[in-house]
Amino acid sequence: MPRLRLWLCPLPLVALAVVACGGPFPQSTLRPRSDFAGQVDQLFTSIFWWAVVVFVVVEGLLCYAVVRYRHREGRPAPKPVHGHTALEIAWTLAPAVILVFIAVPTMRTIFATAGEAPATALKVEVIGHQWWWEYRYPDLHIVTANELSLPVGQPVQVSITSADVIHSFWAPALGGKRDAIPGHLTRIAFRPDSVGVYSGQCAEFCGASHANMRLRVLVLRDSAFQAWVRRQQAAPLVPPRGSLEARGRDVFAKSACIGCHTIDGVSKGIIGPNLSHVGGRTTIAAGLFPNDSPHLARWIANAPSLKPGALMMQMPVTGADLAAVIAYLQSLK
Ligand code: CUA
Repeated sequence: MPRLRLWLCPLPLVALAVVACGGPFPQSTLRPRSDFAGQVDQLFTSIFWWAVVVFVVVEGLLCYAVVRYRHREGRPAPKPVHGHTALEIAWTLAPAVILVFIAVPTMRTIFATAGEAPATALKVEVIGHQWWWEYRYPDLHIVTANELSLPVGQPVQVSITSADVIHSFWAPALGGKRDAIPGHLTRIAFRPDSVGVYSGQCAEFCGASHANMRLRVLVLRDSAFQAWVRRQQAAPLVPPRGSLEARGRDVFAKSACIGCHTIDGVSKGIIGPNLSHVGGRTTIAAGLFPNDSPHLARWIANAPSLKPGALMMQMPVTGADLAAVIAYLQSLK
């Protein structure tokens, strides 16, 4: 490669970094949107600046030594320093002091983010499944999947477990990773501080579709959250007789769908996500696809082709029946 072009080498990396940071809902710990994430971000920032100081001092000394003591024709080699007591004390003490400045805030942040929310906090149970998230609001009697709705400014106490293998619940803008372990409860408490949609995903390798186990947290204004709660608590819509949606409900009720999915008043399956209000979600398949007719059609026809290893089998529902089922599911707001 010609020498002058060497400076171009990092460009693909820079491009990759820029692209990776894009997307509508960036998954970044550097844009904290809760008290928990804010404290972690502050700790990160302070450690970052300590690292900058260390880098500048060490590299500065290195450059100074390289230039000052470089080989010069006809000059004798510089005299090595050996056993300089003051120097040795200095380079032992300085890192120790810096480590104290890093360790103390780190311990403080670990304790601050390990606590429980107040007793009045909104309680949410998160259950990891291969490969989707189940959310239960025990006090509100709501069961939903993949999209976690929360009110802004209110503390949330989340308890996390798993139905099968170990997963890890992670919404970077709101909090740190918490393993979802079968037969065990882990907890995280935080208070979202900004309305918005925050993406996250499973952060523990859990099988073929680990990368397809995404999630969204919708932080809503209190009035919007209350409206969402009312919609979730209402019985699912029963479509009027003779409508396309009614045909879809009949097809659903006679198909294998009912073995895995719950729609209140229609079916009681518990293997897959609760679909009582699936039409109100913005995505399907654990945040993989927008919740629209083409994606629902492809998903129902052949889910494993879209999410490798998915338990949802290919459904023999086609043509007008498929259109009716989609219309029915979309009507369940
Ligand atoms: Cu669930 Cu990775």
